[in-house]
Amino acid sequence: MVLKIGLVGCGAIGTEIAMAIDRGDIGAELVAVFDRNEDRAGELIKCLKAQPMLSDLEDLVERSEIVVEAASQRAVMEVAKATLERGRDLMIMSVGALLDRYVYRMVENLARENGCRVYIPSGAISGLDGLKSAGAGKIDIVTLTTTKNPKGFKGAPYVEDMKIDLDAISEPTVIFEGPAEEAVKAFPANVNVAATLSLTARGLRVMVKIVADPKIDVNVHQISAEGDFGRITTRVENVPSPRNPKTSYLAALSAIATLRSMAEPIKIGT
Ligand SMILES: NC(=O)c1ccc[n+]([C@@H]2O[C@H](COP(=O)([O-])OP(=O)(O)OC[C@H]3O[C@@H](n4cnc5c(N)ncnc54)[C@H](O)[C@@H]3O)[C@@H](O)[C@H]2O)c1
Repeated sequence: MVLKIGLVGCGAIGTEIAMAIDRGDIGAELVAVFDRNEDRAGELIKCLKAQPMLSDLEDLVERSEIVVEAASQRAVMEVAKATLERGRDLMIMSVGALLDRYVYRMVENLARENGCRVYIPSGAISGLDGLKSAGAGKIDIVTLTTTKNPKGFKGAPYVEDMKIDLDAISEPTVIFEGPAEEAVKAFPANVNVAATLSLTARGLRVMVKIVADPKIDVNVHQISAEGDFGRITTRVENVPSPRNPKTSYLAALSAIATLRSMAEPIKIGT
C-alpha cells in the first residue's frame, strides 16, 4: 500500500520527512506540501525527485490520506479541523497545542465522529513505551528536565517576557520550573516532549525544569517516573537539527518511524 501524504510545514522536521519519502525510506508518496512561507515550500520541492503539488491547505487535505502537521502550535487547530472533517488521518508534531483542553477535545471528537486516527510520535524522548505500560497501573510522579544551549531558547515567549539575557549565561542555569501546561506556552518550540509526556501520563501533572547550559551542544531530555511499577529514568542526548537548533534530529526520525510503521504489518513495542 502506498500511503498518500500531505505535508504542512516545510521546516526542519518537514524537510527530513519529505526527503525520507523521496529516498524511498517510507512506503509512501508525498502528494502535496503547504507552508505559509511559500518560498520554503518551493525550496523543498526543488530538492525532491518526486514533485509534490504546492497546495493550499484545503487542496492538500483533499489529495492526502494522511496529513502531517510539522508547522507550529498555532497551526494545529486549523489543520486538524480541515483534515479530520474530511475524514483524513492526521499526524501532529506541534503537540504542545493539545495541552489546551479545548483543542484536545475538538481533535478527539472530530477524530471519533469521522472515524480517523491521530498519530503523535514520541519525538525527541525515549521511555514512552514504559510509561504507557505503567499508565495501565498507577503513576505517582513524572518529571522532565530539558537542557539546551542558550541559543536554542532564543525567541521563546518566556525568555522575552522575563527579559532573560541568554548571552550572559556562563554556567548551567535553571531558567524555568513549572507544570507542562505552562512550559509549552512559555517555550512552544522547545518542549513539545513535555506535552507528549503529559498526554501519555493521562492527566497526571508533569513537572518541567528547563536548563540553559552554554557548554553543551546537545539537547538533553531526562525523564523520571515513579509509580506502582517501580521507577523509570531515561536520558537522551539529542543532536540538534542543523536546520533548526530548537529541534532535535530524533524528533524528525520519530515522525519518519511512525509513518513507516503505518505501512508495516507487524507492530513492535507498546
Ligand atoms: N513532537 C516533538 O517532539 C517535536 C520536536 C521538535 C519540534 N516540534 C514541533 O514541530 C513543529 C515543526 O518543527 P520544525 O523544527 O520543523 O520547525 P521550523 O520552524 O523549522 O519549520 C516550521 C515550518 O512551518 C511553517 N509554518 C508555521 N506556521 C504555519 C502555518 N500556520 N501554516 C503553514 N505553515 C506554517 C513555517 O513557515 C516553517 O517553514 C514545531 O511546532 C515544533 O515546535 C515537535
